[in-house]
Amino acid sequence: MDVVNTKRRSRILIAAFLTTVFIIIFRLSPEHNSHSVFSRHELGVTHVLVTGGAGYIGSHAALRLLKDSYRVTIVDNLSRGNLGAVKILQELFPEPGRLQFIYADLGDAKMVDKIFKENAFDAVMHFAAVAYVGESTLEPLRYYHNITSNTLVVLEAMAAHNVKTLIYSSTCATYGEPKKMPITEETPQIPINPYGKAKKMSEDIIIDFSKTTGMAVMILRYFNVIGSDPEGRLGEAPRPELREHGRISGACFDAARGIVPGLKVRGTDYNTADGTCIRDYIDVTDLVDAHVLALANAKPGKVGIYNVGTGKGRSVKEFVEACKKATGVNIKVKYLSRRPGDYAEVFSDPSKISRELNWTAQHTDLQESLQIAWRWQKSHMKGYGPPMATA
Ligand SMILES: NC(=O)c1ccc[n+]([C@@H]2O[C@H](COP(=O)([O-])OP(=O)(O)OC[C@H]3O[C@@H](n4cnc5c(N)ncnc54)[C@H](O)[C@@H]3O)[C@@H](O)[C@H]2O)c1
Repeated sequence: MDVVNTKRRSRILIAAFLTTVFIIIFRLSPEHNSHSVFSRHELGVTHVLVTGGAGYIGSHAALRLLKDSYRVTIVDNLSRGNLGAVKILQELFPEPGRLQFIYADLGDAKMVDKIFKENAFDAVMHFAAVAYVGESTLEPLRYYHNITSNTLVVLEAMAAHNVKTLIYSSTCATYGEPKKMPITEETPQIPINPYGKAKKMSEDIIIDFSKTTGMAVMILRYFNVIGSDPEGRLGEAPRPELREHGRISGACFDAARGIVPGLKVRGTDYNTADGTCIRDYIDVTDLVDAHVLALANAKPGKVGIYNVGTGKGRSVKEFVEACKKATGVNIKVKYLSRRPGDYAEVFSDPSKISRELNWTAQHTDLQESLQIAWRWQKSHMKGYGPPMATA
């Protein structure tokens, strides 16, 4: 009996919480009480659907699109993103017809179809995804569902509503662990974890679909993304419960803030110069530049596939030293055994994107990127919760 009551109480609490979230979101939208300009195509205005726009990269991309006068609709289920980031964007761009936020899950095909029906999108930037290699090895089905099935849902809605431009967030994890570095777009894709496999499947589906529809597609394979908005408006604020799967920058900052006692470096016996993994760290500002260029250069009937990286590999040890300097904290480091699903060395050859889209990474000083991100972290000890004074 007690168990039943507890279950019922939890359901009521969850329902009340969700209702509150809905109301807040509805009120946050400047369009909530007017006939939406988002539902009409407007000459000279490009309306971009940004899925996952409450997340780290999606929110930075939305900021850049808004700055460049695009109309933006963010769709996010807030499973991993932050309403606080959307709120900041809405405060920066409060004018009608600039930005709207729709709380929805991309797994809900009916809802996604309704969103496409009610909005006149010109293009889609599909960022929404669960995106942790380690987690994907523990929960593979979640990854195939969230990444691969949801991409199908988005494509079906695009087909049904004649939206013909797609910029897709892919990853270097689709290459797996190639023997030869650097990685070019021709390097065979042999992913070794469910995250990389799910993204590769999505790429294949998108490419096949584009062949029969004349879609303009750009697939961007990002390397490891770091940094944040140089003007300090947005940052990276993953859920605390994801800490154990987290990325190295988040872990360094957590250690520097004393949230965790130190930094765990997993794997010191890789076949690399200092035994730790080598990665290619790309600043989020450069990454969103690549998206804007990709959108501007997307051509009907063509699929552009590009690596987005600096072309330079840095070891985890190098990264940790840069992080110590950027934060001014002598972070304690604990060396552990390898993490399942990790690969030794990954760095890009970005010459194709440089040649074809005239893009090269500009923010390649690791310490500088980390310093910018640290400034935001230090003044947002609770992520997008109430801002705190900088020490
Ligand atoms: N961060 C990196 O280093 C990196 C590297 C390569 C590729 N990527 C890709 O970039 C994209 C964005 O990554 P990020 O680092 O910003 O992650 P993030 O977790 O910060 O953002 C993802 C967003 O998608 C939303 N989302 C997830 N599932 C959803 C669903 N079913 N419906 C609606 N919204 C959903 C989350 O709530 C979150 O706001 C992902 O596709 C990821 O695979 C990231």
